[in-house]
Amino acid sequence: MLIHKRSDFPDGFLFGAATSAYQIEGHKFGGAGRAMWDDFAATPGNVVRAEDGALACDHYHRYGADLDLLKDAGFDAYRFSTSWARVMPDGRTLNPEGLDFYDRLTDAMLERGLKPCATLYHWELPSALADQGGWRNRDIAGWFGDFTEAVMARLGDRMYSVATINEFWCVSWLSHFLGHHAPGLRDIRATARAMHHVLLAHGTAIERMRGLGVQNLGAVFNMEWAAPADESPEAAEAAALYDDIYNHFFVSGAFKGTYPERLVTALGNHFPEGWQDDMTKISARLDWAGINYYTRSLLAADDGPWPHLRAVDGPLEKTQMGWEIYPQGLHDFLVRTAREYTGDLPLYVTENGMSNADMVMDGVVDDAARIAYFNSHLSAVRNAIGKGVPVKGYMAWSLLDNYEWALGYEKRFGMVHVDFETLERVPKASWHAFKGMLAK
Ligand code: FCB
Repeated sequence: MLIHKRSDFPDGFLFGAATSAYQIEGHKFGGAGRAMWDDFAATPGNVVRAEDGALACDHYHRYGADLDLLKDAGFDAYRFSTSWARVMPDGRTLNPEGLDFYDRLTDAMLERGLKPCATLYHWELPSALADQGGWRNRDIAGWFGDFTEAVMARLGDRMYSVATINEFWCVSWLSHFLGHHAPGLRDIRATARAMHHVLLAHGTAIERMRGLGVQNLGAVFNMEWAAPADESPEAAEAAALYDDIYNHFFVSGAFKGTYPERLVTALGNHFPEGWQDDMTKISARLDWAGINYYTRSLLAADDGPWPHLRAVDGPLEKTQMGWEIYPQGLHDFLVRTAREYTGDLPLYVTENGMSNADMVMDGVVDDAARIAYFNSHLSAVRNAIGKGVPVKGYMAWSLLDNYEWALGYEKRFGMVHVDFETLERVPKASWHAFKGMLAK
């Protein structure tokens, strides 16, 4: 059971669930083009069992029933994403069938009284643009601006809120430095360029949407609490650097128009020439900020090359992903983000949740561990609100079990179980727990 009540949160506080296009829709339908995740998954060793999003949850055809699940649980909002490769299969030319899908989806949300919260980019880069360098190519800012205009000219007046980019760190660092996500590069120069270009694309999209009169614009930042693994000054330095790379760089760019000094020193040579001139556009005014939060990392110094750090296994209870459960980090990020960057601007928790080895037994999925996770993290949100932080909503990740990127269909994050053979949906105990809580 969830120990909270809707009435424990301020009036108008939004509860929702989040998903993303490639993870649930089924990319083989509706004329979608090839996305870089199709290529990444087709390359052996990148994704568990080389699985991809071709079918996923077949949400493309089942969206009505999936939205009913949100409505029946009493959620207020739905955070979804618009696949670039579906709307523009070659990255530049409109596929009317693709845009029609999001049009139908939007109307279906509104019919059910759900607030549509769009994210323009949740990693479905068309392969044709990856061929041209993807996030390494400065032109991506303009391409993304054009995509944004095409989508929002059609949907913009029906959105409750719009985010440009999901998780800047994943788009750049995880995908170009660590190589864990598409396009799977391990190249410091590509990384530095992607870090800057993804922010430039964000700023460009904001400018285009202001031009169209679209309301309530923001972006979604993922944050991972960085703590030193021991008491040494070296570990403290490793944690501070990790914090800069992961957490400060992107919010600082977007809200202050500056990058952390340490990273300008370390990466400045790799940033595109004249990057300083982009900072005004990058820090275009926003109406809200979203934080995705899952876990913390413990950092120690490492003798290797820059960034001279490594993550160390932590002592806390872990989820199926091997991620430590650390709700205090969510509280601390909400407080810190408001204090250092966003002030009175509304903050949303745009993703939070855990994967668990869920199984259907006698028609029931007892995901008690997930309910406990939600309980502790909702407490963290309440504590932050109690300190005056303007948190305006909480979106659970995720509505459905889905394609968990490099981990394929193995890791289950849903409040609703999906059988990937039959595609049958079974609401888990956590879905029922939200339903109970949202009625109170
Ligand atoms: C986030 C992603 C989301 C999902 C969760 C578990 O980084 O935004 O798509 O994979 O992690």
